[in-house]
Amino acid sequence: MGFSFVKHLLVVLISFWVFADPAFAKHEGITRHYKFDVRMQNVTRLCQTKSIVTVNGQLPGPQITAREGDRVIVKVVNHVQYNLTVHWHGVRQLRSGWADGPAYVTQCPIQTGQSYVYNFTVTGQRGTLFWHAHISWLRVTVYGPIVILPKRGVPYPFPQPYKEVPIIFGEWWKTDTEILINQAMQTGLAPNVSDAFTINGLPGHLYNCSAKDTFKLKVKPGKTYLLRLINAALNDELFFSIANHSLTVVEADAVYTKPFKTDTVLITPGQTTNVLLKTKRHSPNATFLMAARPYATGPAAFDNTTTAGILEYHLPSPVPKSNKNKIQLPLLKPSLPIFNDTTFAANFNKRVRSLATPNFPANVPQKIDRKFFFTVGLGIMGCPQSQTCQGPNNTRVAAAVNNVSFVMPTTALLQAHFFNQNNGVYTTDFPANPPFNFNYTGTPPANIMVSSGTKVVVLPFNTSVELVLQDTSIIGAESHPLHLHGFNFFIVGQGIGNFDPKKDPAKFNLVDPAERNTAGVPSGGWIAIRFLADNPGVWFMHCHLEVHTSWGLKMAWIVRDGKGRKQKLPPPPSDLPKC
Ligand code: C2O
Ligand code: CU
Repeated sequence: MGFSFVKHLLVVLISFWVFADPAFAKHEGITRHYKFDVRMQNVTRLCQTKSIVTVNGQLPGPQITAREGDRVIVKVVNHVQYNLTVHWHGVRQLRSGWADGPAYVTQCPIQTGQSYVYNFTVTGQRGTLFWHAHISWLRVTVYGPIVILPKRGVPYPFPQPYKEVPIIFGEWWKTDTEILINQAMQTGLAPNVSDAFTINGLPGHLYNCSAKDTFKLKVKPGKTYLLRLINAALNDELFFSIANHSLTVVEADAVYTKPFKTDTVLITPGQTTNVLLKTKRHSPNATFLMAARPYATGPAAFDNTTTAGILEYHLPSPVPKSNKNKIQLPLLKPSLPIFNDTTFAANFNKRVRSLATPNFPANVPQKIDRKFFFTVGLGIMGCPQSQTCQGPNNTRVAAAVNNVSFVMPTTALLQAHFFNQNNGVYTTDFPANPPFNFNYTGTPPANIMVSSGTKVVVLPFNTSVELVLQDTSIIGAESHPLHLHGFNFFIVGQGIGNFDPKKDPAKFNLVDPAERNTAGVPSGGWIAIRFLADNPGVWFMHCHLEVHTSWGLKMAWIVRDGKGRKQKLPPPPSDLPKC
């Protein structure tokens, strides 16, 4: 057989393989390379300098930009004393679960001096997401925006904005947050609340000695700006508003929404929201405060401070330079809802609807294979034997899903699953329903002890799931922003009080419900979500209030491989970190 014949045969075989594969044929994206050097950096906020963990020395970290269909390759090099991972929050990771990032779920952490290359393709998503560290509380300073543009030549389903600006909210502690959370886990008490919130890393002039650390947005009159709001705070849902300007919500969690106008946006940790800001026709004789402060419903203390930035209009050009500095314009302030305004929260969340057009359909699962009912909330736990806890009768505060407080394994769940070595790592008996019934949002039961374990739910490929998440009033009702890795879900129903399996399903919206990766379970209420388990792997689900995650409000789903070639999780990359 001649060489040219073999070559010819190869070409034929390869092209057959390429063109027989619809996913590949459609892949016209490019590959984008990033390097994340994780290193310590001295940063001064609120008049105090501290050394923080950063990516490339930046706070917030660098922006990842990609178009829908692109491949993103990020080499993360760990130069700090902490072991860590990075999670691409909201990226679906279709058959790329090894790149998802939650520590001990899809990978062992990257150890000091080591590196790992995250490699994934952005499929069927466009909008704003974000990345953050996913171990302990390191995401407090290790976070940054992900901007997914539509494919080249594909317009937004709203007017093309003049400019696009990421607005990323963060949370700042004067103390070392790793020490803080480790001590809190030792004592069993709640850790101290933060000292400030930040907009693009800056607290703003409402805090002590922070006037120069204020984010300024300079705008031109008569233009439309796209603000990409991201809540990267650890423990607080936020209200956000700009004085004298209304905002039009057009996208949430990288899914287009039916546009709606609002003066205030509610955004939970883990959520992203794109809003259009139309500036006034003529430069007004004022500047405008943009402010964010918490929506807080829980029983514990919270950081009751306000972060602010300034919206400033370019002055009309005829103003002579010498006069520019002399003009002191009044600063107008927005009015934000009161901190516990659950009515506002419920109304705002109900207004978020999928765009649901032929180009951007809402593929809500209509027929359901498996139904689950999970309670989410707080509780208490016995103190580990080696410790003494400061809760009542030597207990510690805990949080649980269906009364199971999740225990992190010491090796990655995905590895254990993939190599069939789950023995001693996890069990597959995560309860589909609460272990006992009680009035979830009424007087709590006498025994509020939770159990613990590393339990998962196993789903066959392509299972359509309906899950009711029910808040409990144990210790105190509280809104919990639940985040699911690997999927978007549809919020088909929501309500206050206990979910009623007889009456509530009739009211579900199966036409244009919000499609998200993070949704607030209302304080003393419930949401019903649906998703199609079409992504093989191990997928973390947890409260995105970091303190609740630390206390155990987390669990994992295992989605098995399907039969088809495109329905299987490939083996791990060779540089997957070892525990
Ligand atoms: Cu934004 Cu599991 O995380
Ligand atoms: Cu929570």
